[in-house]
Amino acid sequence: MRKIIIAGNWKLNKTPREAAVLVEELKREVLDIESVDIVVCPPFTALDEVSDIVLDTNIFLGAQNVYWQDNGAFTGEVSAPMLKDLGVKYVIIGHSERRQYFGETDETVNKRLRAALTHGLTPLVCIGENLAEREANKTFDVIRQQCQGSFANLTDQEMQKIVLAYEPVWAIGTGKTATPAQAQEVHAFIRQLLGKLFNSQTAQWVRIQYGGSVTPENIAALIAQPDIDGALVGGASLKAPSFAAIVKAAKK
Ligand code: 13P
Repeated sequence: MRKIIIAGNWKLNKTPREAAVLVEELKREVLDIESVDIVVCPPFTALDEVSDIVLDTNIFLGAQNVYWQDNGAFTGEVSAPMLKDLGVKYVIIGHSERRQYFGETDETVNKRLRAALTHGLTPLVCIGENLAEREANKTFDVIRQQCQGSFANLTDQEMQKIVLAYEPVWAIGTGKTATPAQAQEVHAFIRQLLGKLFNSQTAQWVRIQYGGSVTPENIAALIAQPDIDGALVGGASLKAPSFAAIVKAAKK
């Protein structure tokens, strides 16, 4: 059985003080939930503050990116050992916004996830097609290419430590959620593809989150699909009541 995982991607939002208020409230709202892995991914500047608050709770700390070198002359970057030291357990890698605005490629995703795995961080790797690709019937080609590139040269054991997030770009921040059937179709394709790139046990083991306009209202129908194992939530993770409602509704 794959355990449900709900992660909040706060993107470029919340000062350390605002983050503390949000996560204090969230902590109270999800106190008794053990059947779901709950992750919050604040910006780097709020990680330290949030880390103290979630210590010894059922909320895990995640970062939104990681560089592949441990240290050195790489101005502006943050490394896996730095994140580990702050109590970070998960790291989002290859989000479509990073691909779109910051030159992220499948190759750099591969480097980042290697660094994360080396240091015992769990990568949340994002993949997904944009609107033009979907309309041109290229969704499966795009997904195949992203998986082949991002997961190149990984062993089955390494792949089993990764969480995937299928985030159709056209559904992110648009209020246009993929229908449960649309999402399930791609999730099933991803799992089948993993079965070809890796062994069948790995394909069954890996958790695949859906992301893109997830709300307390639509999460139940998404999570009811056999290959949807959680959600990566943007906008609705910025308020404790809505994120907590998503976590509660995701308990299968
Ligand atoms: P929204 O939930 O705001 O659409 O964002 C999704 C997302 O990009 C999560 O990583």
